[in-house]
Amino acid sequence: MYKLKHLLSAQDLSREDIYDFIDLAREFKALNRSDVKKSDSLRGKTVINAFFENSTRTRTSFEIAAKRLGADSVNFTAADSSTKKGETLIDTIRNMQAMRTDIFVLRHSCSGAAKFVAANCDASIVNAGDGLNEHPSQALLDLFTISERKGRIENLNVAIIGDIFRSRVARSDIWAMKKLGINVRLFGPPMMLRDCDAFGCPICKSVEEAIEGADVIIMLRIQLERQDGEPSFPSVREYSKFFGLTARRMQAAKEGVMIMHPGPINRGVEINSDVADDPRYSCVLDQVENGEAMRMAILHTINLNRSAR
Ligand code: NCD
Repeated sequence: MYKLKHLLSAQDLSREDIYDFIDLAREFKALNRSDVKKSDSLRGKTVINAFFENSTRTRTSFEIAAKRLGADSVNFTAADSSTKKGETLIDTIRNMQAMRTDIFVLRHSCSGAAKFVAANCDASIVNAGDGLNEHPSQALLDLFTISERKGRIENLNVAIIGDIFRSRVARSDIWAMKKLGINVRLFGPPMMLRDCDAFGCPICKSVEEAIEGADVIIMLRIQLERQDGEPSFPSVREYSKFFGLTARRMQAAKEGVMIMHPGPINRGVEINSDVADDPRYSCVLDQVENGEAMRMAILHTINLNRSAR
């Protein structure tokens, strides 16, 4: 089982770690579907969700996960904190650590923030998204969702389409999927594929080419909050026309294809509602249910590793 004290990056996960997390999440999913959704592996522990950036799914699911495991969990949001008065990130974390916090679930707009905090405090850090860098719990829940539907996941073909350069979800997904021998292909507007050669994944020339033969299609949100400087595409209408997933385009997709999206969805932009809501292939709400179970698996494991370095 995963032995590190923190969960900072999907790059730190071995193939075996990923399968162990999936097995554990499967058990927590069964617990979550039972009458009494409660375990006590984190009883007596304190978990703070320190969110310096907006979140719906990730923050709520980590809070519920900590509570279902018996921990005391508290939500901290930067917008109504002393961050607004100029307190630094490390000062904020160290002050909350002085309250004897065991685990921080951290989201921050700065790439590398989770690693920086982990190096400067004693608690365990779970990276819930750092800038455009990584979002490892999303990669684990995505792989759980894929393995649940597809069984064996090695050698599957996965297409990731959209704002890959600015997507921490894509980055963590790609690192984790490569560990499992999944064939990942990428597509998006040229400026959203900046630096993507480093992943060593084929880059497609059209949505049609990306979809063809794919077992899984992962659509990404345009990261409007990170489009500093020049825009990466001329207009939302053009984005939808050239890069969006529509029912017409899905006609050429492989039988049994899964469509995934980390949320929040920009309906009619990267994906049309008739695709996002089509039960034949949309796995968006399965991702959310599995995310709950996976976050329990992560907190449970990190708590066991608290004394590791
Ligand atoms: C993602 C995020 O914030 O990185 N959302 C999520 O955690 N489910 C993706 C996004 O915001 O587009």
